Amino acid sequence: MEATPGPVSAHAGGKVILLGEHAVVHGEPAIVAGLPAGVTVRVTPRPGPGTEIAATGGLDDPRLARAVAEARALAGIEAERGLAVEIAGDLPVAVGLGSSAALCVALVRALEAASGRVASDDDVARNAHRLEGIFHGTPSGVDGTAATYGGLLWFEAGPPPRHHVLRPARAFDVVVVLSGSRHETGRTVAGLRERAAASPRVYRPVLGAIGALVRAAREAIEGGELELLGELMTMNHGLLRACGVSTAELDAIVEDALAEGARGAKLTGAGGGGAVIALPAGEPAALAGAMQARGHECFAVALAPRS
Ligand code: MEV
Repeated sequence: MEATPGPVSAHAGGKVILLGEHAVVHGEPAIVAGLPAGVTVRVTPRPGPGTEIAATGGLDDPRLARAVAEARALAGIEAERGLAVEIAGDLPVAVGLGSSAALCVALVRALEAASGRVASDDDVARNAHRLEGIFHGTPSGVDGTAATYGGLLWFEAGPPPRHHVLRPARAFDVVVVLSGSRHETGRTVAGLRERAAASPRVYRPVLGAIGALVRAAREAIEGGELELLGELMTMNHGLLRACGVSTAELDAIVEDALAEGARGAKLTGAGGGGAVIALPAGEPAALAGAMQARGHECFAVALAPRS
């Protein structure tokens, strides 16, 4: 396949999981929202064979060479065609905001463009899911789906994976609070998988209860019941804590957010460090300011369906 002569680039955004992380790996649904910030991949032809890779923004990783090689192969680009692949991110890495999935989606899109092909979103999501396995072992696909399609989505891992756009009756914001500690998603997911396999009679009902919260949250979002949504988020945090994927630091941030009047708060993403999301009762900037005054780094995200 002929590569395009000029440089090509692609951007994919990160995500926040509103409810359902971890349980989604075990067959339950999740609600996820795409973020504008994420990862940009630029591909430029260069003389000679092979790939030269340069990554900034905390995205340099020993597994990157394998992911780029696989994305090249999936795009059908011959080994003798020389390419420079530049990767840059504007999202905190390894904190539960989906930087790996954004990287995989941007890589797939950029290399497909470099090969002169136009891939459908469904093909991009499928190939990015394969690549994400290099970083996370057995991802559900929720992060890659958010990075591919954006917007506020309902997601089920399947197989086959399914998603559809959620339409909130009222637009709302969440405040993302960074704990300052990083995590390894693959390890957190594998740990819970082992515990669930060892004691299915204990874990299965808890994971099922998370699924029930996600279903109720969908109705709350579609019905504009933000007070209830907040309660469901805080309950979801309690169950994630019961599953052993929270930390004292994340629990303390949740407590701080609730003390500052948030309608609800929970860890987001894999846990074990990373970030918390809080649903403000009033102006998001007021909650963000109060959390900053308590020493937390945070930012607000507006949630709306994909237009
Ligand atoms: C990570 O963002 C979400 C998890 O549910 C893992 C996954 O779904 O692949 C923890």
